[in-house]
Amino acid sequence: MNAKRVLSGMRPSGKLHIGHYVGALQNWVALQNDDGYDNYHLIADYHALTTNLDTSNVEEDSIEMTIDWIAAGIDPEKSPIFRQSQIKQHAELYLIFGMLVTANRLERNPTLKDQIRDLNIKQVVFGHLGYPALQAADILLYKGECVPVGEDQVPHVEITREIARRFNNHYGEVFPDPEPLLSRAPRLVGLDGDAKMSKSLNNTVLLSDPPETVEKKLRKAKTDPQKVRKGDPGRPDVCLIYSYQKVFNSDETEAIDADCRSGALGCADCKMRVAAKINDELAPIIERRKELEADREKVRRIVIDGEARARETAEATMREARDGMKMGALDV
Ligand code: TRP
Repeated sequence: MNAKRVLSGMRPSGKLHIGHYVGALQNWVALQNDDGYDNYHLIADYHALTTNLDTSNVEEDSIEMTIDWIAAGIDPEKSPIFRQSQIKQHAELYLIFGMLVTANRLERNPTLKDQIRDLNIKQVVFGHLGYPALQAADILLYKGECVPVGEDQVPHVEITREIARRFNNHYGEVFPDPEPLLSRAPRLVGLDGDAKMSKSLNNTVLLSDPPETVEKKLRKAKTDPQKVRKGDPGRPDVCLIYSYQKVFNSDETEAIDADCRSGALGCADCKMRVAAKINDELAPIIERRKELEADREKVRRIVIDGEARARETAEATMREARDGMKMGALDV
């Protein structure tokens, strides 16, 4: 049986946080380490332009993100890591896909609507509306069948499937029918308790945070406002620390739930218990990060190599697509 192709990516946001890890990255690593899958990982630097035109940090952010991917267990020898901007076939297939999806369909995309609301965008640029068509090109250039992402990305994968079917109906079977693969954890709540974990909101625990920093950040995090001191009964279901316990300390959540409700467990202790679990999970990542940070030239070479391999795959697919459309190179 042929290995299933996995394609996933992230916009280059620099150092990653634990939400990226449990939301997607951990899944990438698990699939990579299963012989039934064959991974490609893309740095979506063009997509980053949809909400931020300032590109002064994009290269550095891409390298930082690559370091986190590798530190978390992505093996670039097995799984090419590459920047979207360096593979021109993304632009080419995006143009064709722009003909296969209606403006109306793109306007109805819930992820776009959420971004417009959250970032208070007044005028939507054409490229932002077309975001899913570019993502479809990302996935389908590598014939991605399995797309491990967070829940917010499911609408994009759905549009990708529609575009693939539409192309295949018109021009012959070139593209697979990709499926999203969701992670074990729902989106992590930020340290401030009432928003998602996000770099721009400054409420994250980074994958690269040393143990003291993780403890300090958790110590400051909000808990159930009705539980003022140890002994007060708490409500785990409204507590963000409890939501972290469920993800990072699943063996103890039942006991923690009971002890929080009875008042036997205070918030300070509860926080340090989850901090210890998070730190256990981060320790090997931080260790591997050190080596990579010390040799950034090696990281750059890894990306250059990934780009060469990705380009070959992308061009082979593009040739098939152009041939299907009778827009291939002329023979004489
Ligand atoms: N839209 C994704 C995000 O914001 C990033 C992304 C771009 C992606 N292209 C992709 C994810 C292809 C999966 C597959 O996180």
